[in-house]
Amino acid sequence: MHSPHQKTVLVTGGAGFLGSHLCDRLLRDGAKVISLDNFQTGSRLNHRQQAANPDFRLIEADVADPLPDLEVDEIYHLACPASPVHYQESPIATLRTNLLGAMNVLELAARAGATVLLASTSEVYGDPLVHPQPEDYFGNVNPFGERACYDEGKRAAEALFYAHAEEKGADIRIARIFNTYGPRMQPDDGRVVSNFVVEALLDRPLTVHGDGSQTRSFCYVDDLVDGLVRLMASDVRTPVNLGNPGEFSVAELADMVVAMTGSHSALAHLPLPADDPRRRRPDIAKAERLLGWTPAVPLAAGLASTIAYFREAVLDPASDDRPSHLLPME
Ligand SMILES: NC(=O)c1ccc[n+]([C@@H]2O[C@H](COP(=O)([O-])OP(=O)(O)OC[C@H]3O[C@@H](n4cnc5c(N)ncnc54)[C@H](O)[C@@H]3O)[C@@H](O)[C@H]2O)c1
Repeated sequence: MHSPHQKTVLVTGGAGFLGSHLCDRLLRDGAKVISLDNFQTGSRLNHRQQAANPDFRLIEADVADPLPDLEVDEIYHLACPASPVHYQESPIATLRTNLLGAMNVLELAARAGATVLLASTSEVYGDPLVHPQPEDYFGNVNPFGERACYDEGKRAAEALFYAHAEEKGADIRIARIFNTYGPRMQPDDGRVVSNFVVEALLDRPLTVHGDGSQTRSFCYVDDLVDGLVRLMASDVRTPVNLGNPGEFSVAELADMVVAMTGSHSALAHLPLPADDPRRRRPDIAKAERLLGWTPAVPLAAGLASTIAYFREAVLDPASDDRPSHLLPME
């Protein structure tokens, strides 16, 4: 009896928040996993447990540079800084990653005969005029502003994936990912869940932009990773929203975090950033119908494990999990 083929899977951006959880899941599922990362926002610590696994390999490289040939069956293309703080540090680098990265990854997939999945984003809908956003909504995006390097970069990456599928028969998948949170988010990257949790744990004021009435949806990382794996395993070659349709105001989230951490923090209001969407909520009917996927982790449960992670990473300086890039807290 011959043993079944062991899949080899490349995860670009594998040392990041989502990528490292995806590597964990793929290894658990029995795949050989290659993580390719330039460590712009990722951390070697995120691969600490995987490094000992003989089925895991790390390649330090930039997806915007020509990529080596790799014998892989599947590619999850996640490489790209996800938080505005990081993608706005160098908008040109962000565009290079999105445009040249997508091109290089598609060419590698063609050489390897691999299926290739793009981690796209709800930002392709911009500041949406339709709620919730279905996949056939074209969006309301500003091409000439500080978020454009990311939003338009991802839109162009989707266009590249589409073009390669049409012209060259590439076997593509596109996940439009909505706000996802969980352990291994960076404490200093300006995303609302990690910001609130870190501020609450340190008893600092929680920074709320605007009056806090803007809404967001929050998907727990394990649910999101499951959606990515199901999408890859499907034959759906058009964009699919993945996110949690539960809609919470930023002020509600702040109240939950303060209560769950037992913090004494108050709220500090700052002006809204440019082009900040007022509402954001996925329509996940397509994922439910075609992938049989629906998020299972309620916000309170996901927040509890996120808080536990940050409690150790932020408050316990002796912890092995303490990320090296943690901001020195004044
Ligand atoms: N987390 C979310 O809520 C969310 C929402 C929508 C879309 N996404 C998308 O999912 C992907 C992963 O997001 P994340 O939250 O894990 O972000 P992250 O910043 O934690 O991870 C991104 C990873 O990509 C690496 N990277 C960046 N540029 C690179 C390059 N040029 N070459 C090689 N590696 C590079 C970084 O070092 C990092 O390890 C991104 O493409 C992001 O746009 C995430």
